[in-house]
Amino acid sequence: MVENEPLRFGIIGTGGMGAGHLAAVQATHGMTLAAVCDTDSEALHQVTSDTGAPGFHDFEEMIAQVPMDGLIAALPHHLHRDIVAAACKARIPLLKEKPLARNMTEALEFVEMAEDAGILFMLATQRRYNPAYARMKQISEQLGHIFLARGQYCFRWSRDFVWRGQWETAGGGALHDMGYHTVDMLNWYLGLPDWVDAEWRSSGFPAMDYDTDDTAVTMFGYDSGAIGYLLTTWATTPAEETFYLHGTDGVARADQTGIVHMDTTGSVVSQEPGEGSSGIALRNQVAHFAQCIRTGAAPLTSARANLPNMAFIEAAYRSAAEETRVSPRDFLPE
Ligand SMILES: NC(=O)c1ccc[n+]([C@@H]2O[C@H](COP(=O)([O-])OP(=O)(O)OC[C@H]3O[C@@H](n4cnc5c(N)ncnc54)[C@H](O)[C@@H]3O)[C@@H](O)[C@H]2O)c1
Repeated sequence: MVENEPLRFGIIGTGGMGAGHLAAVQATHGMTLAAVCDTDSEALHQVTSDTGAPGFHDFEEMIAQVPMDGLIAALPHHLHRDIVAAACKARIPLLKEKPLARNMTEALEFVEMAEDAGILFMLATQRRYNPAYARMKQISEQLGHIFLARGQYCFRWSRDFVWRGQWETAGGGALHDMGYHTVDMLNWYLGLPDWVDAEWRSSGFPAMDYDTDDTAVTMFGYDSGAIGYLLTTWATTPAEETFYLHGTDGVARADQTGIVHMDTTGSVVSQEPGEGSSGIALRNQVAHFAQCIRTGAAPLTSARANLPNMAFIEAAYRSAAEETRVSPRDFLPE
């Protein structure tokens, strides 16, 4: 890192979510694209032609050849271990896409690897960097006793699941993948629940070969008496991503179009537009990563801070397997 010079970033996995990170780096002051990596020649050619950045098929080679201040990785879940190991070996700060890992055992290993190597390890959970969802956090403190929380994240997947369809490569389906954001919001707003009770199915696409959940319903509760549910499905329409908090003094509802604060009768107290897409959140997220690299501060969404998300998901799948309520806290380290 050279003082007063833009920070140099390498992006690994450019075909899917990596494209969003690439756009965020290019649009953010003080950041520059140093190199890109993708095993898919077509995806790599596209991005090197568009950006002029050097391209690599092998991220170890990219890390060895190009001086960089940070890595941003958006890879299939079974490859997250390799990129965490490579960042640790090269001692380069890493912003890695969610989920933290395929399961809690792997998550704890990743956190330990990064802490032993002393690298900055941040998770991409961009709802935390979205102004509308951050406002929801502030409004949650004006709702009195919150007795009900509910999140819906639904759409219909339109391609083959590829690596997402198998437990081995993905670690889980709709709940673990897209639902990770909804779980993260719940843990952010209300903290980790005291129990979860989940059911999931993988029957929405009879013609496709996959065994991870395409639909999951997870009930949860707190010792305070608050209860709620998360519904995650990538098997049906209409597309919807909404999160509600219901309190004794009011209600808050957030989605991509904005946040509405209502009183208990449903009259609007305040209303603020959202961003409509994840562009602002992704830019805020990479800017936060850059700021942490420059200052040495711990990121808001550090890998360790993501352990409760993994604990919730692990408990939900265990609950479904054992047909009983499970405490997510049992999966957290002492
Ligand atoms: N934050 C979000 O909103 C969001 C949205 C979608 C996906 N994601 C996450 O992003 C990650 C990637 O998901 P995706 O949907 O982009 O997947 P994808 O399969 O669409 O794209 C992955 C890309 O990585 C490339 N790739 C595969 N192996 C590679 C390797 N060894 N080295 C370099 N490149 C390699 C592929 O060619 C492809 O271009 C996952 O962790 C997923 O959960 C996050």
